Order: sequence, then structure tokens, then C-alpha cells
Amino acid sequence: MSKYDFDIIHDRHGTSSLKYDFAMVRKGRDDLLPLWVADMDFRLPDEILDDITARTGHGIFGYTDPDKKYYKAVQSWYSRRQGFEIEDDWITLAPGIVYSIACAVRAFTKPGEAVLIQQPVYYPFMEVIQLNRRELVNNQLICRNGHYEIDFDDFERKIIENDVRLFILCSPHNPVGRVWSKEELLTMAEICAAHGVFIYSDEIHSDFVYPGHRHTSFITLGDKYTQKLILGTSPSKSFNIAGLQIANIIIPDRETRSKYRLENAAAGYSQGNTLGIFAAASAYTRGEEWFEELLIYLKGNLDYVRSFIRDNIPEVRLIEPEGTYLIWLEFSALTEDPADLERLIVEEALLWTDSGIIFGRETALFERINIACPRSVLEQALHQLYNAIRKRRVGL
Ligand SMILES: Cc1ncc(COP(=O)(O)O)c(C=O)c1O
Repeated sequence: MSKYDFDIIHDRHGTSSLKYDFAMVRKGRDDLLPLWVADMDFRLPDEILDDITARTGHGIFGYTDPDKKYYKAVQSWYSRRQGFEIEDDWITLAPGIVYSIACAVRAFTKPGEAVLIQQPVYYPFMEVIQLNRRELVNNQLICRNGHYEIDFDDFERKIIENDVRLFILCSPHNPVGRVWSKEELLTMAEICAAHGVFIYSDEIHSDFVYPGHRHTSFITLGDKYTQKLILGTSPSKSFNIAGLQIANIIIPDRETRSKYRLENAAAGYSQGNTLGIFAAASAYTRGEEWFEELLIYLKGNLDYVRSFIRDNIPEVRLIEPEGTYLIWLEFSALTEDPADLERLIVEEALLWTDSGIIFGRETALFERINIACPRSVLEQALHQLYNAIRKRRVGL
């Protein structure tokens, strides 16, 4: 018997929600079912909301720093769930992971120097590199029989040829859904260590892992590999608090940490978001039961998507995710033209997804959809897609 009901539809309109209230501004129409931005349509459980409400009830929202209780909540979550220990001083707050990646880019590279990423990948990685006038170097992930893999020879060659200073790893990987194995991580770690490359490991999705897979944090790989490590963690995906703008950047090495902190200070950031700090501490302390049920629900959503596609739209290929609540779908059996795919998704299926092209040049015939919504919403979305494809099949 489950304690929490993830089937409930909460109307998010009128809350300044990026996903629901900005369709006209961003898409120029408001008749599409949104499945794009990576937040969830689920409400936090009362135990966490009670803590937030108690804090808002106080009525004063002055400058706030994390206290002992906050550090303990974060440490205990990662110790319990991912088996690693963090010292208080290793943690630097940030308003978000992308902000901290930008800090790392500026702290560990100079303008014109090379930063490595693995496309297709979360698009702000590219933006942050390019907007800071660094050179973007890509180690393209290889899709073999629906499973993405790393070309390690290319990885090392690109590092050497371009004198790469920083590697931004997405672990688990958005959008391809890989939960990297310890062996894969060690191979990358060894290459980076051999060439003195800093690593930003973005582990924002690391709590979302499907049965049969296990997330290995880069921080657990051993001292040899963590001297140049910046580990990006955050409760914002796990507990749907992206709007509260709080992330914990974990840097075990003192020298690396002080370089990062200098850049963080240069950007003008000091205290964290008051409600973010309270919500994070509460979520990590009181939210585990809710989160466990959420994982089961998301697995149910994934199972639903898989069987719906198999039974109704086998032309669409599901790249089986090992983690994250983001699904990567390939449409190349339906069309070879990205503009035609856009027509299918937007004009015919009336869906608002993230087109593959924004994650990298080679994936224009993919779409990313977010399955962190009530199942009935997902059913509606997939039926819309099915109807659009069915009409094409019969030439309507
Ligand atoms: C891999 C990855 N990193 C970072 C973010 C965003 O993090 P933040 O809002 O903390 O900048 C996302 C959001 O979708 C993400 O998927």
C-alpha cells in the first residue's frame, strides 16, 4: 500500500511555472502538452511542506547560512544512499549546478582553452563553455544497438590534441539515460589524471536510478582521481525544488576548492537561498520514504512508455534509460528530416518536447521527454503521438 499518491493532477497554471505558464512566450502557442523542462508535476509530501511552512510563518527572510543540521542532512543522505562521506568544509553552496559549472569553467580554464563534453548532452554545458569564450571539444557518445557507449580512444585523443583543461561529465547522463559503470568512470578518471584534466562531475540526477543499476559517484573512485574533482550535487531534481535554487558543490581537495571559491566569490555569490536551505535540509532528512515511492512510480511510468511504444508505435525507438526521469526517443525510422519531425511532434501530436538537435548536431532525429508526471498525462501524450503517427501511416 503506498502512502503517497502520484496520480493526482495538480494544476500548475498561474504559478509562473516555466513549463505551464510560458508557452506563448517560448513556443508561440499554448495548445501543446508540455513534456520538456526537467522538473516534476508532483507535490512535495506534507512532512517537508510543514517544515517549509513553519519557516515562512516566521516572516523574516534575512541572510542565511547553512548550519550543522544542514550539513548533517546532506552528509547523511549521501552516506546512506550512495555510500560516501563528506566533510562540512568540502561543501560550497551554489544557486544551481549550471552556475557552478560556469564558475568551474572560469576557475580552471583560461579564455580560449579547451573544455571537453560528451554529446548528446544537456545543452547548458555548451552554452556555458561558449559564452565564457572557451573552446568546446566533443567526445561524441556512440549508440550501439540502442545503448550509448564512450569511445575512450577518441576521449584521450581529443584531450591530448586540444590540450583539454576541464572535462564536464554528466553522470547519470542526460539525455541518453546511462548510469556509468565504475569501470567506465575509472577509465575516464585514469585518462584525466594522466593528462592533468580537471573534472566537473554533474551528478544532479544520481538519485534516479532504475532497478538493476547502481550509481557510482566520481568521488568514490579514490584519492588519486579526486584531487581535481568538482562534484555537483543538488536536491533540486530529487525533490522538485529547482525554483528554490540550492545546490551543494563538493570539492575534497583544498587547493581545487580554494580556486573554485575564489571564482565563486568573484561572481558575487555568498549566502544561499533561505527557503532552499530549509527545504533541502528537510527533504534530505524527512523525504526518503516519499522519494522511494517516487522511484517506484517513475519505474511504472517507464514500463508504461516501453510497452506502449512496443505495442503501438514500434517505429519509435526507446533508448532504454538506466537512470533519470528523462526519456530519449529516436524517430529516424519515421522521417529523415528534422523539420518534418518537428511538424510531427508539434503540429500533429501537439506535444512540447525537447528536440534532439539542442543536445548536439548528430541527434536531430531524437526527442527528449520528461516522464515525471502523473501516468494519465503520459497516457494522453503517448496517445497524441500514436494518433499523429497513425494518420501518417494511412496517409491522412
Ligand atoms: C544534467 C543537468 N545538470 C544541471 C541541470 C540544472 O541544474 P540547475 O537548475 O541546478 O542549474 C539539469 C536540469 O535539467 C540537468 O539535467
